[in-house]
Amino acid sequence: MINFDFHKYVKSYVRKEDKVEYLERAREIKSRFVDGDLKYWNKLDTFVSSAELKKIINITDYVRSNCDVFLVIGIGGSYMGSKAVIEALSPMYNRKSPEIIFLGTDLCSENYYETLEYIKDKEVIVNVISKSGTTLEPSIAFSLVMDVMKEKYSEEKLKDRIIITTDPEKGDLRELANRKGYVTFTVPPLVGGRFSCLTPVGLLPIAVSGINIVNLISGAKLSYERIDRAIEYAVIRDIMYKKGKIIESFTVYNPKLYYFTEWLKQLFAETQGKAKKGILPISCVNTRDLHSLGQFLQEGHDIIFETVIGIDKDKKVVLDKYDMELNSLNNIALDKVGLAHSNGYTPSNIITIDEKNESTIGELIHFFILSAIVGALLIDVNPFDQPGVQEYKKLISEELE
Ligand code: PA5
Repeated sequence: MINFDFHKYVKSYVRKEDKVEYLERAREIKSRFVDGDLKYWNKLDTFVSSAELKKIINITDYVRSNCDVFLVIGIGGSYMGSKAVIEALSPMYNRKSPEIIFLGTDLCSENYYETLEYIKDKEVIVNVISKSGTTLEPSIAFSLVMDVMKEKYSEEKLKDRIIITTDPEKGDLRELANRKGYVTFTVPPLVGGRFSCLTPVGLLPIAVSGINIVNLISGAKLSYERIDRAIEYAVIRDIMYKKGKIIESFTVYNPKLYYFTEWLKQLFAETQGKAKKGILPISCVNTRDLHSLGQFLQEGHDIIFETVIGIDKDKKVVLDKYDMELNSLNNIALDKVGLAHSNGYTPSNIITIDEKNESTIGELIHFFILSAIVGALLIDVNPFDQPGVQEYKKLISEELE
């Protein structure tokens, strides 16, 4: 369950009168989600059909008992969501096999060299994920990995070791899968990469890591009812933005949420950052970053606000010295930092989950997806495209040709 405090440490920046101006706009946006053109965002079937969900669960057992390494190839939305959930919910040490390795997020030869060497004598299953099927980095990764896979396995055996997640009809990967008979999963046509964590794009790697995806989805469904909260949060962000707070720090107090903040950065940057508009997302993992970015948030240029994610209940570690649990101290820090920063010029929205589990992470994911879409609508940009991402791809392709 998520709790929201959009008041305590923002109240001197966002007054009730400010919100009143948004009433009409918020009502119109809500009606689009409730029974208008955006209705599909609040339906499970948009993200994964029950048939695909069953297929994911079935193949997960096979994957978990037939490889040492599950190699996930993808970039941007085709990787960030699953990486975020796996890091948030997996133990730090002694994770259960298979080992999950992500590749295709860079063009760094050292990274490829070491990974390809590492997998040479391991049993490997590959999941290549690309909605378009043409993105440069995963294409390069897939071709390099296939060279190794072909050395290791016959053409027939590869059919059990290559899983392709892509568009249902178009693209090079779909064509390859059809030709070779590889197992495939579908990226729903309406759901762009950064919104695809709860589609087969994210769900298969997450399930293979041992996380219960049914609970994750049930959590997301809870937030279907939360459209009002998502709109309220988007409105507060917009009010801050109009007051010159052009940077938002997603701040967490559990290092396992680091990749969750990376996912948030991608989600908000690609959804809102266009037409010379948008809030620049950054992130802090506290208390570590109180000793670096914290200085700027306290006393630097007054262009930042924070959205803080806290966790009420955590594993029990007792501090005899203060006769309290360490997590209570962590939450005191969260609260006092919120106070200190808002005494400076950095107001904080506080979001807390009662505990970190599949359900609350699923709920957070869908809440932020809705908020990012609403945020884009409030600044009149298209939430669903990312034209700027094409620009560098075009220049590299020209150079390659
Ligand atoms: O959110 C998005 O749409 C992007 O980040 C894409 O996920 C990213 O560019 C990768 O695209 P593709 O899945 O087509 O390889």
